[in-house]
Amino acid sequence: MLIRRRPSWALPESAATPESVYLSRRHLLGAGIGLLAAAGLSDGAEAAPAAGDPATDPTRDLYPAKRNPSYTLDHPITPEEVSGNYNNFYEFGSDRRNYQVADIAERMPRRPWTVKIDGLVEKPREVGIDDIIRAMALEERLYRHRCVEAWSMAVPWTGFPLKDFVAWAQPLSGAKYVRFETFVNPSVAPGQNRFIYPWPYIDGLTMAEATNELAFLVTGVYGKPAPNQYGAPLRLAVPWKYGFKSVKSIVRVSFVEERPVGLWEQVQGREYGFWANVNPAVSHPRWSQASERDIGTGERRPTLIYNGYGEQVAGLYAGLSGEKLFM
Ligand code: MTE
Repeated sequence: MLIRRRPSWALPESAATPESVYLSRRHLLGAGIGLLAAAGLSDGAEAAPAAGDPATDPTRDLYPAKRNPSYTLDHPITPEEVSGNYNNFYEFGSDRRNYQVADIAERMPRRPWTVKIDGLVEKPREVGIDDIIRAMALEERLYRHRCVEAWSMAVPWTGFPLKDFVAWAQPLSGAKYVRFETFVNPSVAPGQNRFIYPWPYIDGLTMAEATNELAFLVTGVYGKPAPNQYGAPLRLAVPWKYGFKSVKSIVRVSFVEERPVGLWEQVQGREYGFWANVNPAVSHPRWSQASERDIGTGERRPTLIYNGYGEQVAGLYAGLSGEKLFM
C-alpha cells in the first residue's frame, strides 16, 4: 500500500481543539438556527424527520434496556452532548472537531439495513437488522472507551453480547477469525469519495476474543437507539482494545480462516496492528499511551492495562508473546 497519510485522529493531543471551544461553537450554531426560526426567517413548516433520525427507529420500543450490573464504572458517564459530538467516523469526514461528522451522518437512512453473514458458517444468509435485534436480548452496559489517540469516554451502550450473535450465526469449526465490514455508499458518506482510504472499513477479532463476555454488539446508547454518528444500526464495542477495532455501521460479518487486515493496518501498518490492546507501557510510535484525557470531565487519568479489563481478557493472550499485542 503506497498510501502513507496520517489519520487526523492521530494528531498530537496539543493539536486538539479544547472541548469548551467546540461545544460552545455547536451551541452557538444551534442557538442561531433557533433565533432565525423565532424571527420568522424560516418558513415555519414542520421539518420531516431526517432519514437517520433515531426517533424513527423501528426498534425504539426495546429501549431503555435493563442495565447489566456487572459492567459498571468508577468515574462519571460522559455526557451525551460531548460523546455524540466527538466521533471518529471517517466515512462522514475526518474532522470530528468541527461537528460535521454527526450532522452529515444523520443524513444516512437507517432502513432498509441488512447484515450479510457469510464465510465459514452453517448457512450463509442476509438478515434484516430488525430481525437480528429482536432475536437478541438487549441489555445496557457501562463501558470505558479508549481511543488510540489518548482520549477516553465512559459510555452507556445498549446491545447484546457478540458471543450470542456468534452462536446464532453458527460458525463452522474451521473459523478462526470474525471479520466485520462497514457499508459503502459514497452518496451518503462523502468520506468514501476520498480514495486514499481503502473502503470498506473493516477489522476483526479472533474467535476467542469474539466469544469473550466483554465483546459487545451495540444498537443503542443513552437508553435509546444509537444516533448514526455512533455507528448505527450495529457497531462493535471491544472495550479492552483501542477504539479503531470497534467497527461501526456493520453490513457484513464473515467467519474466516485468515487474519483480517483492518483499514488502519492497511493504511499505516507500522502504527496500527491487528491486536491493538490498550497498554500504558507501550507507546504509539509518535506519542505516549501512559495517560488519557477524559473528554467528559477534561481530567487526565493514568491509562490501565487492557483499559481496566485485564481480569476478563488477559488470559486470551497467554502464549502469544511473539505477537505485537499492544499496537
Ligand atoms: N468504524 C468505521 N466504519 N469508520 C471509522 O472511521 N473509527 C474508529 C471506530 N470505528 C471508525 C470506526 C475509531 S478510530 C474510533 S476511536 C471509534 O470508532 C470511535 O467511536 P465513537 O465515535 O463512538 O467514539
